Amino acid sequence: MIKKEIINTFFIADLNELKNEEINLINNAKSALESAYSSYSGFSVGASVLLESGDVVNGSNQENVAYPSGLCAERVALFYTSSKYPNQKIKTIAISAYSKNFEIKEYISPCGGCRQVMAEYEEKQAQPIRILLHSPNNKVLIANSVEDLLPFIFRSPELKKY
Ligand code: THU
Repeated sequence: MIKKEIINTFFIADLNELKNEEINLINNAKSALESAYSSYSGFSVGASVLLESGDVVNGSNQENVAYPSGLCAERVALFYTSSKYPNQKIKTIAISAYSKNFEIKEYISPCGGCRQVMAEYEEKQAQPIRILLHSPNNKVLIANSVEDLLPFIFRSPELKKY
């Protein structure tokens, strides 16, 4: 038996250490919280996607009385991005969250399903996506690729036929 280890690299920064483009993106993600439809959980998530062209696409979580029919903010934003700008590369995604039921003290990290979707778009564009997780104390967790948030990403190039 051999032991192997995975090293995940990420950064913690103060919001004001980021460049303006990224501060704006985080502010966009915070604004997107207002459009969350989170009547069942009271937990709102905003995501904002920055494209290489400079275009920005926002998304928020959309819930449903049939709970699994809802969708996370990150996937709303990413799927809309890919529908509207199928040929543009995604540079960065910023994520922010708010709960009306409790105080969020730490970074809210995207769920596994959303990380898998990020991984698909990284693969599609052959370029990593930078991920900014905004914490209420104005700290930002930065990952330079979803690979740092999702070890053992499901990959199967054989499944891609065209
Ligand atoms: N949610 C997101 O929008 N993104 C995540 O990465 C985690 C969870 C949403 C889904 C649901 O509407 C609410 O947060 C509570 O799980």
